[in-house]
Amino acid sequence: MRVLSVVGARPQFVKLSPVHRALSGQGVEHLVIHTGQHYDSKLSDIFFEEFNIPAPTANLAIGSHSHAVQTAKIIESLEPHIVFQKPDWVLCYGDTNSTLACAVVCSKLPFKMAHIEAGLRSKNTFMPEEHNRILTDHCSDLLLAPTDNAMQHLQNEGLSKRSHLVGDVMIDVLNAAKKSVSDDVQSAKEINVPKGRFYLATIHRQENTDIPDRLTEIIDALSGLPLPTYIPSHPRLIKKCKEFNIDLNKGSLCSIDPLSYSELVSAVMKAEHIITDSGGLQKEAFHLGTPCTTVRTETEWVETLTGQWNTLVEPKGITDAISRPRPSTERGYTFGKGNAADNIAKLLLKL
Ligand code: UD1
Repeated sequence: MRVLSVVGARPQFVKLSPVHRALSGQGVEHLVIHTGQHYDSKLSDIFFEEFNIPAPTANLAIGSHSHAVQTAKIIESLEPHIVFQKPDWVLCYGDTNSTLACAVVCSKLPFKMAHIEAGLRSKNTFMPEEHNRILTDHCSDLLLAPTDNAMQHLQNEGLSKRSHLVGDVMIDVLNAAKKSVSDDVQSAKEINVPKGRFYLATIHRQENTDIPDRLTEIIDALSGLPLPTYIPSHPRLIKKCKEFNIDLNKGSLCSIDPLSYSELVSAVMKAEHIITDSGGLQKEAFHLGTPCTTVRTETEWVETLTGQWNTLVEPKGITDAISRPRPSTERGYTFGKGNAADNIAKLLLKL
């Protein structure tokens, strides 16, 4: 059996790693196409090296554009590769423009496509990702859901027959990574303070970065926190801060380069609190038992809100939220037991 994964943005390289291992372990021929949506080495190459994923068979080198242009360019470039490779299954991951472009291409070709991380809904239609999720799910032949809630959303939209609960592939990666994190080693070379004596922040969503007043309010709040606050800065954040003349290195705030996956896991385990707008980081914090404050009005990962392990705030609520008492509620196996990639490989072989 030949499976072709289409990836393009940082979180997709992380999700790809356990899937590649599981498929290869079952003797499946697994090819990878990189759309080139992310191209900076620290958002792309380092993950292929860190996870030992073979180089992609093709890199479409699409780069950064408006949503429509980026999606359209991927659609145009991807189609001939899929036609040439004739895969038994195409896999797309998550909710980026690369995900949607892959789904559109496959919907009009005689090759089956499965969506990993299907069924997530934030109900916020101002998020480009929400459109990508819904459209991708409705184009897919097979929907691989990470949680019961995701399965429920798919049922509500009449997609039950194509849906399977497999668990979250991010937990597979996380379980492997946390074993290698040692207590006495620094989280990352720039984070040189002891465990529990710093906050870790990431902000990259266009809803937070692209409105000057909102971004100013977020950065002001982070820079006034009572512990050093490290922010591994996404290129979008750096670009917008330059454009709006916002200083990312003031008060307690310290901007650092994007982290490798193992550095990130180590930093999450050692941080006192996480402040983020990333979907993946909310889950990582929850799974690793670090309280999280999310600067968004809603989350597609509602399970993380259990017992206030995660809480949603507007920028002005950041300071109060990080001082709430540490949650004590059990978290359980909400996102699966770390065998999602094996479940996916077995399901594809069976079907
Ligand atoms: C994308 C995804 C988002 C995901 C995020 C992970 C969409 C709609 N959004 O957002 O869901 O959470 O990836 O990081 O697909 N840039 C660089 N170098 C790069 C890549 C981007 O400098 O390698 C800069 C460019 O200025 C670009 C901006 O970052 O315009 C945004 O990049 P883009 O891929 O459009 O969206 P992300 O914000 O990364």
